[in-house]
Amino acid sequence: MVAELASQDHIRALPKVELHVHVEGAARPTTLASLAKNNEVQLPVADPSDLYVYEGLEDFIAVYELVCRCLVRSEDFERVTYESLELANLAGVRYREMFFSPTFALRRGVAFQTIWQGLTAGVNEARKDFGIECKLIMDIDKPSGADSAQELIGMALTCDREVLVGIGGDAGEFGIDLGAFAEPFNFARQSGFKTTMHLSEEGPVSDIAVGVRELGIERIDHGFHLLDDEDLTREVVERQIPVTACPTSNVEIGLLDSLSEHPVPSMREHGVLVSINSDNAEMFRIDLADEFVRVQDAFGYGLDDLEDLSIAAVESSWLDEVSKKKMQRDFIAQFQKLRSEMDVHARVFDSLPEN
Ligand code: ADE
Ligand code: ZN
Repeated sequence: MVAELASQDHIRALPKVELHVHVEGAARPTTLASLAKNNEVQLPVADPSDLYVYEGLEDFIAVYELVCRCLVRSEDFERVTYESLELANLAGVRYREMFFSPTFALRRGVAFQTIWQGLTAGVNEARKDFGIECKLIMDIDKPSGADSAQELIGMALTCDREVLVGIGGDAGEFGIDLGAFAEPFNFARQSGFKTTMHLSEEGPVSDIAVGVRELGIERIDHGFHLLDDEDLTREVVERQIPVTACPTSNVEIGLLDSLSEHPVPSMREHGVLVSINSDNAEMFRIDLADEFVRVQDAFGYGLDDLEDLSIAAVESSWLDEVSKKKMQRDFIAQFQKLRSEMDVHARVFDSLPEN
C-alpha cells in the first residue's frame, strides 16, 4: 500500500513531543549576535550562523561552546528559552523536555541561580503566551568529570522539581571514563531526578552498555550505534529504554552522509522505543516539523508512522502515566482529524490508550 503523505503544513500542525533539544543550540542566531554585543563577548563572525558547519563532534562542541558564551545575564537565559519555545510551538510541539548546559556559564563566573531564574521565567512566559509545556533537564559536561557532575547535581537540588525533572550528560565522547559517573547518577536518582545521557553518538555501542548497565540511565540520547550489539538491543527493547534519535543532527555533525542511511527505521523494526528530535534546532537550521518532513521523505513514512513516532515520544517522556495516556488520546484524535481533512480512511486501532 502507498503511504499517505502529509503536506508540510499538515505536518507542522501535527501534535508533537520533543525530548532531545538543547536550549542554547535552539537560540536564534540574531538573538545570539545581540546578546554577544550586549555582553561584550567576542565572536569570530558577526552572524553566528556562519559558524554552523561542522567537521565532527569535537568541532561541533567548539561552536556550541561559543554559542553558550553569549548567555550571561538572567534575562539572556529567559529570552532564549522563551524564543525557542515560541519556535517550537510553531512546529506543533505541545510538550518538551529541554536540556540546558550550565557548565560553560558557571566557568565564566555566572551564578547558578542567575541561569536557573532566567530559564524558569522563559518556561513560565512561554506557557502563558503559547500554551506550550516545558520541563528542563540539566546536562552535566562529561569531559569535566564525575566530581564536577556531583557538584552540579548538588546545585540542582535547590531547583523547583516541577520544572527540573532530570539530569543528562552531553559533550565529547572520547577519552571519558563513563563508569565514574555511576556515583553522581545514582545520587541524582536518589534525589528524585530522572537520568539520561548522550551515548554512542560518535562513540562506540559499548558506551550505551555502560550507560544502561552500570550507570542505570533511563533514556538514551542518540544511541546511534545501538544495533551494532544484538544482545544490548534486545535488552533495550525488553526494558523499553527510550532512544531519542536526532537524524539531521547526525548528518550535520558528519556521522553519515544522508538521512536515508539513518538507523531509525531499523531500530523501529527491532522494536526499539525511538523518538525523533531536533537536538540543536537553530544550529542545524531546522525545527521539529522540518525534521518530521525530512523523516517522511527519507524513510518513505506515511501518516501512521508519523503518528507512531509522536505516540512513542509521549511514551518516552517523563510525564506521569495518566498525563501520558491523556496526551496520547489527544494526539490520536488530532491525527484522525487530519486524515479526514486529507480525505483518507480513519486508522483502526486494536486498542486505544485507556482513561
Ligand atoms: N550538546 C549539544 N548538542 C550536543 C550533541 N549533539 N552531542 C553532544 N553534546 C551536545
Ligand atoms: Zn544533544
